Amino acid sequence: MRFTSSVFTLVPFVLAAVTRAAPTAPTPLDVFVPPITFPTAGTMWVSKTQQNVTWDASGAPASISNEAQLFLRKDGITAPFILAQGFDLRAGSLEITVPWVLTGTDYQLVLFGDSGNFSPVFTIQSDTVQ
Ligand SMILES: *[C@@H]1O[C@H](CO)[C@@H](O)[C@H](O)[C@H]1NC(C)=O
Repeated sequence: MRFTSSVFTLVPFVLAAVTRAAPTAPTPLDVFVPPITFPTAGTMWVSKTQQNVTWDASGAPASISNEAQLFLRKDGITAPFILAQGFDLRAGSLEITVPWVLTGTDYQLVLFGDSGNFSPVFTIQSDTVQ
């Protein structure tokens, strides 16, 4: 078993992609998976309010190939609920409107750049009586 140093340095970032890819020299990738810094565990948002999602954009490459997307996830399932797309991952924050969803303590955000990064589980409080 022999790894080239360039493949080896990519392993932590794109393990799944590398193991599936052909074993040729990798093309240079701007792999950037910024960790979400807000919401945190214990955050409670109310439906239809404006909130700033933030993430650590330090170390962002000059160019990012993939379009950024922000998904809402509930109960461990990343439903096709897109909160935002096409924003600049280097900005480090994005103002969103919390969607009109049922109250739940098991929401997460997923920030997609080249790969996905999950926020801690947090609460959304619906603004309707349930
Ligand atoms: C989000 O951040 C921007 C820039 O700092 C600020 O102007 C705006 O008021 C913030 N929005 C909320 C809902 O906190």
